[in-house]
Amino acid sequence: MVSFPDEDFFQLNTYLDELKPSKLFILVDENTHGHCLPTLLGNLETSLPFEILEIESGEEMKTLTTAAHLWEILAEFEADRKALLINLGGGVITDLGGFVASTYKRGIKFINIPTTLLAMCDASIGGKTGIDHQFIKNIIGTFAAADHVFVYPDFLKSLPFAELRSGFAEMLKHGLIADEKHWEDLIALPDLEAEQVFPHIKRSMDIKLEIVEQDFREQNIRKTLNFGHTVGHAIESIHLESGKPILHGEAVAAGMICEAWLSANEKIIAPEEANRIIENIRRFFPPIDLSAFPGEDLVDLMRKDKKNSRNRINFSLPEKIGRARYDVHIPEENIYHALHYYQNLT
Ligand SMILES: NC(=O)c1ccc[n+]([C@@H]2O[C@H](COP(=O)([O-])OP(=O)(O)OC[C@H]3O[C@@H](n4cnc5c(N)ncnc54)[C@H](O)[C@@H]3O)[C@@H](O)[C@H]2O)c1
Repeated sequence: MVSFPDEDFFQLNTYLDELKPSKLFILVDENTHGHCLPTLLGNLETSLPFEILEIESGEEMKTLTTAAHLWEILAEFEADRKALLINLGGGVITDLGGFVASTYKRGIKFINIPTTLLAMCDASIGGKTGIDHQFIKNIIGTFAAADHVFVYPDFLKSLPFAELRSGFAEMLKHGLIADEKHWEDLIALPDLEAEQVFPHIKRSMDIKLEIVEQDFREQNIRKTLNFGHTVGHAIESIHLESGKPILHGEAVAAGMICEAWLSANEKIIAPEEANRIIENIRRFFPPIDLSAFPGEDLVDLMRKDKKNSRNRINFSLPEKIGRARYDVHIPEENIYHALHYYQNLT
């Protein structure tokens, strides 16, 4: 269930009233502690006992070490099966918190209150939880849906521009795979500002929800949501490993450019349509310099991607703007060509 928007926190308070959890645990990072927790606490109308669990911000925290630390704290505070974990943050908090909740005592309930654009439109919905391991993105995780997602677009007002743009990449992806009008609306925005993006959040969330409802466990159509992510995750992972992480959406934007090129190269999408995708993504996202990373290392990471089967690197590629296909096998030499193409874009 998703409440969007939850004016005055009415639906959250009603939800807590009806659920009557034994205790609340609120997971935050230092930024959502400062920017979002005061608003949440100021609006909670409950006498339930609560604890704040704070971690440092950043993708580097989405690890087994942090998960173990959180399991230990839950046990220390005697969280029982009726306890509720509230994930207040971006995709790192909702992925990690969802994973911790879905495994602690074989699963306690959790809700997501996304505070980044990326988490509102994408990470907080759909029930994929997870952590990275040995720099491989989301290699350990569960399918476990949040009991409820409460969305407050006002939280975006404190979000830095680069983070807003990172979430915008996933919104563009939703348009590209499922709704041409959504894509057109997004690329027509004069500026990438929270207020301008607000009116489009609901449609982006709905696209994801509609896809996930058809295929929760990613057996078929849900795979289209991985457009841009085969190359994107490799680019994100290699930066994480180098100690200079880049934002998820920045990596996905670069991934979508490479994969749109691959789609045209495979004659799946018309070249002019692929060019339109590439040109518009480039309008919003500056290029990422990949020259320090050998193509072999990136392709090696793609080989380890959990979406592969039978040792083949699988892609989800656009057939046209607004429609995508999945399980497309691409020979490795063409992936090198795509990376080369990207690196040579000026
Ligand atoms: N589960 C899924 O379906 C899914 C889908 C897409 C992405 N993801 C995952 O999501 C993660 C990325 O999420 P993200 O981009 O939200 O990153 P994030 O959670 O790291 O948040 C980005 C930054 O913004 C800060 N922040 C959050 N809310 C803020 C606010 N309101 N004001 C000011 N600062 C704020 C955070 O502290 C952090 O520094 C990745 O790990 C990615 O793999 C998961």
